[in-house]
Amino acid sequence: MSTRTILFVCLVALLSLWAVSGRTETDAVVDADGNWLEAHAPLVDLEVYYETLCPDSRNFIETQLYPTANKVGHVMNIKVYPYGKATEVQNPDKTWNYTCQHGPKECATNMLTTCALHFYSKHHHHRRHRLDKKLLDFIYCIENSEDPSNATIQEACAKKEHFSWHKLSRCAEDKLGNELEHRMGLKTEALNPALNWVPWIVVNGVHNGTIQGEAVSDLLKLVCDTYTGARPKACPTPLDDEE
Ligand SMILES: *[C@@H]1O[C@H](CO)[C@@H](O)[C@H](O)[C@H]1NC(C)=O
Ligand SMILES: *[C@@H]1O[C@H](CO)[C@@H](O)[C@H](O)[C@H]1NC(C)=O
Ligand SMILES: *[C@@H]1O[C@H](CO)[C@@H](O)[C@H](O)[C@H]1NC(C)=O
Repeated sequence: MSTRTILFVCLVALLSLWAVSGRTETDAVVDADGNWLEAHAPLVDLEVYYETLCPDSRNFIETQLYPTANKVGHVMNIKVYPYGKATEVQNPDKTWNYTCQHGPKECATNMLTTCALHFYSKHHHHRRHRLDKKLLDFIYCIENSEDPSNATIQEACAKKEHFSWHKLSRCAEDKLGNELEHRMGLKTEALNPALNWVPWIVVNGVHNGTIQGEAVSDLLKLVCDTYTGARPKACPTPLDDEE
């Protein structure tokens, strides 16, 4: 082989090594649009029914949902429903009056979140409304703040994700947000068993005491153990689990 050929072969070998190591390092891979890259096995379907001003819901988002999605979001299909134990009555003009556990500010914050889900969910393939990283960042930004109902904070969180604050705040104040929130209510009221606690967790269509308990104490382990594809690198090794 000529020196040139040898050099070329070495370069190719080095480049492939670099490419392979680069790929194994990043596990929960996010593309340029903030989509988690597709996994091959069925995604773990996670539904979170919650209230935007509820301390337990906020704690779940901060300590379980957000960190877990940042590690293994690419094997998850996350859907959130901000409604919880709210109730609604319909007006003659078909709009709804909502009553929320934590007062009118919570209803307004639920609605704003619902509007963000409506405008900014990625509607690709059959995974309609799969939560992407930007939406989760937005929800985390609000819920992890001093006051999720504070419009100044909400606006700053929207701007951080390049969401239109004008569009969101308008939606939350008019008929669109009012109607969208009603759909959240219908989804929540259709739960079987019925919701009696928030956050209410459903994994692959099932809610029971085991799933609820594991989700609020160690969501990462629950997702890792439920996923049937190759164990993501960010998952604790099964040995760690047994401790
Ligand atoms: C909804 O709220 C408005 C404003 O407070 C009130 O006037 C109206 O009667 C309420 N509608 C129902 C059906 O209770
Ligand atoms: C809302 O948040 C901003 C920024 O943190 C703060 O300056 C303002 O006082 C808050 N408003 C209310 C009503 O709490
Ligand atoms: C809850 O559901 C999971 C998944 O279907 C199942 O493996 C588990 O045994 C159930 N736990 C209870 C207490 O029913």
